[in-house]
Amino acid sequence: MSNSKLRPETIAAHALRAVDAATGAVVPPIYLSSTYARDENYLPKLKENYVRNGNPTLWQTEEAIAALEQGEAAMLFASGMAAITTLTETIPQGAHVVAPDVMYYGTRDWLKRLEALGRISLTLFDPRKNGALAASLQKGKTDFVWIETPLNPTWDVIDIEAAAKAAHDAGAILAVDATATGAVTTQPLKFGADIVFHSATKYLNGHSDVLAGVLVTREQNQRWKDVAVLRTKMGAPLPPMECWMLMRGLRTLFVRYRQASANAMAIARHFEKHPKVERVLYPGLASHPNHDVAARQMTDGFGGMMSILVRGGFDEARRLCTKLKVIVPATSLGGVESLAEHRKTVEGPTSPVPDNLVRLSVGIEHVDDLIADLEQALNAL
Ligand SMILES: Cc1ncc(COP(=O)(O)O)c(C=O)c1O
Repeated sequence: MSNSKLRPETIAAHALRAVDAATGAVVPPIYLSSTYARDENYLPKLKENYVRNGNPTLWQTEEAIAALEQGEAAMLFASGMAAITTLTETIPQGAHVVAPDVMYYGTRDWLKRLEALGRISLTLFDPRKNGALAASLQKGKTDFVWIETPLNPTWDVIDIEAAAKAAHDAGAILAVDATATGAVTTQPLKFGADIVFHSATKYLNGHSDVLAGVLVTREQNQRWKDVAVLRTKMGAPLPPMECWMLMRGLRTLFVRYRQASANAMAIARHFEKHPKVERVLYPGLASHPNHDVAARQMTDGFGGMMSILVRGGFDEARRLCTKLKVIVPATSLGGVESLAEHRKTVEGPTSPVPDNLVRLSVGIEHVDDLIADLEQALNAL
């Protein structure tokens, strides 16, 4: 179904198939069974007969996401981190890995851990420096390039096409953490990436009630087959209940993402010149350092993720989060409700994130309520 001619909005709204062939149910059934009986010849009825190896609810959700990302196949995991840690198991012992220095800190910490254990050698590049990614590559030695775009929490945008070309010239694959694009505004595989990753906990589910991760591949090559074996052996697939809930969230993906994008753009414009704000980091603003790349690569809005650099420092930014009355002071992103987070508090003192950065995950509320809430909180500082 990944070659489906249906438009992405339709794929999402129907979770690929609106009507269950066996029963006519408009909402797909959930197969909670952990095991499946064999037939009269003692042959399995399905391609898998144990839940950890695969099941119908998992497959339907994976097919829908693969179609949205225009990949050959998708694999769902019990969390975003489960997907990432399983994928990095495919990196050969001692190989070289390249990744940005600012990115989701959980991934950075994991790569640093692999480096400390002697599993990989690691180069972290500055995504704001032109040519820094290409200069980090070691031809024949670099196996794996990981980028995130837009980057959490500075929302810098990396040129996927240029990154893919550089990675491939060095003999490496390019994997893209596209969590913030929600599979709506950028399809990294179209730009030459080999694997796309989402923390499906975020936009794909969109209701802050599921923990999930997904990988989508351009082609089902040996590495992909290895990931499938590892997912089963490491016991990391997403359970059926979560798959079903994720599918339910997916049905409203496009309306949610587009509303969040529109709200975020309005907030970014409103606060860009605010006296209590040093800077708004949002790829949709012309003032954003990679706005040109964003405009080319993000073809359906700039998303709901942004950060505000509050005038003052650590204390003012942290205090802002406590003054909000509508926006919830909580971690995570991509849900229907707006969230604010002081990243330095969460990531700790070694984090490269500015002390005065407050990350906003803009939801789908009325934008005037969000603007008024931020105004009153900034004025209360
Ligand atoms: C950009 C990004 N990548 C990966 C992850 C990890 O995903 P999960 O929390 O689903 O394990 C997160 C979680 O916040 C994230 O924001």
